[in-house]
Amino acid sequence: MAAKDLDWGNIGFGYMETDYSYVSMYKDGKWDDGTLTKDHTVTMNECAGVLQYSQSCFEGLKAYRTEDGKIVTFRPDLNAQRMADSCERLEMPVFPVERFLKAVKEVVAANADWVPPYGSGATLYIRPYMFGYNSVIGVKPADEYMFRILVTPVGPYFKGGAKPVVVRIPDFDRAAPHGTGNIKAGLNYAMSLHPIMEAHREGFNENMYLDPATRTKIEETGGANIIFIKDGGKTLVTPKSDSILPSITRRSICYIAENVLGMNVEHREIFLSELENGEFEEMGLCGTAAVISPVGQVNDHGKVINIPAGMDDMGPATKKLYDTLTGIQMGKLPAPEGWIVEIPEK
Ligand code: PLP
Ligand code: COI
Repeated sequence: MAAKDLDWGNIGFGYMETDYSYVSMYKDGKWDDGTLTKDHTVTMNECAGVLQYSQSCFEGLKAYRTEDGKIVTFRPDLNAQRMADSCERLEMPVFPVERFLKAVKEVVAANADWVPPYGSGATLYIRPYMFGYNSVIGVKPADEYMFRILVTPVGPYFKGGAKPVVVRIPDFDRAAPHGTGNIKAGLNYAMSLHPIMEAHREGFNENMYLDPATRTKIEETGGANIIFIKDGGKTLVTPKSDSILPSITRRSICYIAENVLGMNVEHREIFLSELENGEFEEMGLCGTAAVISPVGQVNDHGKVINIPAGMDDMGPATKKLYDTLTGIQMGKLPAPEGWIVEIPEK
């Protein structure tokens, strides 16, 4: 079969039904063998754990088409491990790491025609997810779970692609101290829906959450970690906190900054006052969906903080990080050992 005939350069970040999803059921204390399915609907009891008590978690990674036509994924082992961590915290059974990796390979290979062409600006987003399937009415974990992977081609997360975005500081918290901010639980995203709609209504692209305990330190946005650049492009600074998601993109960027670009990397608490005092030259949001999206301005309840890199383009250090990261992801630049996993086509 041939690649689908889509206007790849103009697709947004949305869901599109593809050929196959992957499904495996957990029942009587074990996972079944799992299979590909053409059925993109889920039927379950009205009292299912996920419907009553939001027992769900998910992951997000991408498949890329390289210049020489191969299909690759980026560090899927880290997604498998993070999903295992999410499951442990939510009293859900772990889908074994090796099986996760095999299922990603299977479902991407089966949907090879949906992997956007090299250079189109689009990629295949892979969304593994798991939820409590059987009925529960007392507050307790389910006994049966469904693990699925859907794939869907996507374009840039923010309209306008690499144009700088504007974020605001909301009055809401995304995660509680000692809560679930450090895992990829569906409930964290439910918490962020009202604040993000409010941000959009006020004309902002995203929310920049502060630490929930003291509201003096910068955490992350609803769907991405944050990076800052200082010292004339020589230093990358990124927030450290127990209530933010350990982003695989951010961890990769830190490695690239230090080991490929020779930058200093500071992974530490970052106070809002540092941003207010103009310590940072560039700012970006990083994640699988966001890749690296530059931030041009932060709005704190009407007080505007302009990022010196401005609203026209990515700053130079951010651009270097972006080019190196995406160069590695698209197979153009050499990758550190184990980062790129090729998916053979059937
Ligand atoms: N933070 C949040 C809240 C996210 O939803 C995501 C997306 O996965 C990230 C950060 C970035 O993580 P990653 O780079 O692993 O995609
Ligand atoms: C991802 O980047 O994979 C996420 O899950 C973030 C979400 C905003 C799509």
